[in-house]
Amino acid sequence: MEFKTIIEPFKIHSVAPIAMTTEVQREQYIKSVGFNLFSLHSDDVLIDLLTDSGTGAMSRNQWAAIQHGDESYAGSPSWLIFEAAVKNLFPYEHVIPTHQGRAAEKILFTAIGGSGKVIPSNTHFDTTRANIEYSKAEAVDLVIPEGRDPSSLHPFKGNMDVVELEKFINETGVAHIPAVMMTITNNSGGGQPVSLANLKAVSAICKKYGIPFFLDACRFAENAWFIREREEGQSERDVIEIVREIASLADGMTMSAKKDPLGNIGGWLAMNDEALASVCRNLLILTEGFPTYGGLAGRDLEALAVGLTEVVSHDYLRYRIRSTAYLGNALAEMGIPVVQPIGGHAVYIDAKAFLPHIPPLQYPGQSLAIELYKVGGVRGCEIGTVMFGRKPDGSEVPAAMELVRLAIPRRTYTQSHIDYVIEVCAEVANRASQFRGYKIVKEPAALRHFTSQFAPL
Ligand code: F0G
Repeated sequence: MEFKTIIEPFKIHSVAPIAMTTEVQREQYIKSVGFNLFSLHSDDVLIDLLTDSGTGAMSRNQWAAIQHGDESYAGSPSWLIFEAAVKNLFPYEHVIPTHQGRAAEKILFTAIGGSGKVIPSNTHFDTTRANIEYSKAEAVDLVIPEGRDPSSLHPFKGNMDVVELEKFINETGVAHIPAVMMTITNNSGGGQPVSLANLKAVSAICKKYGIPFFLDACRFAENAWFIREREEGQSERDVIEIVREIASLADGMTMSAKKDPLGNIGGWLAMNDEALASVCRNLLILTEGFPTYGGLAGRDLEALAVGLTEVVSHDYLRYRIRSTAYLGNALAEMGIPVVQPIGGHAVYIDAKAFLPHIPPLQYPGQSLAIELYKVGGVRGCEIGTVMFGRKPDGSEVPAAMELVRLAIPRRTYTQSHIDYVIEVCAEVANRASQFRGYKIVKEPAALRHFTSQFAPL
């Protein structure tokens, strides 16, 4: 007998309290921080869906591994355990540990970026784009057209438009393209996966032109599970095998270990090119640390090594992908427009369709995220014009999509928490026509979504 409910494949081992708040209190809290959800005290949040990054619950085996951590400056056994766990899935020659993903990006683009360089991707994540642009290089997104259409049901909406990629390479010139990147899954495009066929096609193009191919592989296991579920001929394969095949198609990777590796902190940069690795290791020493610990303590390295073995479990991934779809499908059934199909780590509400009376430059996503918090204490994240609208030349342009992401921390919330979120969304939908847009009253020079302050219009 197969039951409908996919239970959490774990039981609770240690708990953290949630402090209850009222709508009146939350109105006060959000106003006091200039309507920026990043500025809230997280104790004032009931269900925190701001990010799935570093917010997962570790297993008892990971906590046990923490105790096994060895804090030797050089050559720690914890480093060797970590390196072996990474290479078991991603057998690149050189693994360079960093404190999180963006540190790996900063090192990579300091080494290969710079003025006159252009780096294409399916869709660059915001820190990736910011690091590329900070190096004075340009970041270009070449996702397939379906990837920009929230309602398209394409099974691999994270795919690169390979025709555009080849055209882009021919127009730009190989000398200006130090790498091609692929974000798996495509976070900024709705947590959508990339197919193995597409990765193979991009890999072949990169080989043909002699351009290094790098993965931004934060959610590699979720992506591999989608390949297993959706791609022809993949349904019998072990996820580990699929991950290794993905790794074999690229020349290196950047990684945030705060996502699929089930860590609260961590990251790495890996590659086969020895000369590049040597430049990167020297940069690592300037800002992160010695190459056998990078920006991490030995105990963190050990917890990540265990996390890497747990995240490729089929029972875990089946539960993970099904539970994200459980939230997304419930919202879709009540008529709330969400990015389809439901992605791996998050549900993305299409705020442009949900609040059509608020124009993009009045930030419909920000308005919706604020209301979700006020009504139910649910914290999501705007991924739209607030995040992407300010261009390096100072102009403001509406983003391709106006989304609010409800990211699901790994192994943290139960089905009853998610049922509550569904009820909050239903109440927000009842009130949607009353919501107003916002204007920015204070804005920093870069990455404005983190610290801007807003006022209701
Ligand atoms: N690449 C992708 C696709 C990401 O989603 C993130 C982080 C990074 C790189 C940077 O990694 O945070 O360890 O420095 N995404 C988080 C999020 C912050 O909420 O989606 P990091």
